[in-house]
Amino acid sequence: MSAVILDGTRIAAEIRAEVAAEAKALSAAGRRPGLAVVLVGHNPASEIYVRGKVKSCEEVGIYSEKHTPAENITTEELLELVMGLNLRDEIDGILVQLPLPFQIDSKKILLAVDPAKDVDGFHPMNVGALSTQRPGLVPCTPAGIMEILRRSQIPVAGQEAVVIGRSDIVGKPTAMLLLNANATVTVCHSKTRDLQDVCRRADLLVAAIGRAGMINRDFVKPGATVIDVGMNKITDRGEFDSLFAGDAKRSESFRLKGSALVGDVHPQVAEVAGAMTPVPGGVGPLTIAMLMSNTVRAARLRRGTHVAELSSV
Ligand code: GUN
Repeated sequence: MSAVILDGTRIAAEIRAEVAAEAKALSAAGRRPGLAVVLVGHNPASEIYVRGKVKSCEEVGIYSEKHTPAENITTEELLELVMGLNLRDEIDGILVQLPLPFQIDSKKILLAVDPAKDVDGFHPMNVGALSTQRPGLVPCTPAGIMEILRRSQIPVAGQEAVVIGRSDIVGKPTAMLLLNANATVTVCHSKTRDLQDVCRRADLLVAAIGRAGMINRDFVKPGATVIDVGMNKITDRGEFDSLFAGDAKRSESFRLKGSALVGDVHPQVAEVAGAMTPVPGGVGPLTIAMLMSNTVRAARLRRGTHVAELSSV
């Protein structure tokens, strides 16, 4: 048996096209959605992510601006920047790229973002809205996971779901979304006993750990759906070979680049799972697509306008 590969790139393109149509309708009514991205310092991974976010805004017709304060900015100065963005009506979404430098009180910054513009869904008000099933803004990667499942017609209600990882950005909100969709949810973490046994119960397994290839076939029930949120850069040839021995195309790419991007799920899982997301090209593309979707949603919610009503504006 070989798992169905869930094509995140295709699903993300579908969502971007829908968002572009909504952005166009809003723009035609003089309400072009706007996103402000704040990138502090020069974290190379963050720079790549932010570039992708700004480029995607251009593609779907969302106004965007990038703020790049220096690495040594203080919490107070960053608060001032965020509060200035809160006040600007043409800005519908504010995204402060994480991680922030050590001297910054990240919790204080995330609390300062207007919940109505919190397109990351990290403000405690939106976290509370999600956990009490009120309308709000939902974190992008977890929302993207749900879109992959929904658009691939993978049932969630009544299913046994196991989420590995309890981060505020991915693990916890994913567990909450699955619970709201009526799955029976278990959240695992570094202190979980008998992790393999717990994972093997899952019809839906979500891996958000940050360890290359850790989830091998022994963790997976035959036929399960496996969602891989991992994005690990590996540079060790031995580690690469333990994951991809025999994959000529990947091997050549590793030889040229000296590194490879790999998920938390071992490629051999494709032999047992019913469906799985690849890395790259699985969950990753959905994160930016859902950011675009959240920005348009924030624009609509803030202005009390649904797109269907815009034709009469
Ligand atoms: N850093 C890694 N993932 C994310 C994300 O989804 N949002 C923000 N703001 N920063 C991140």
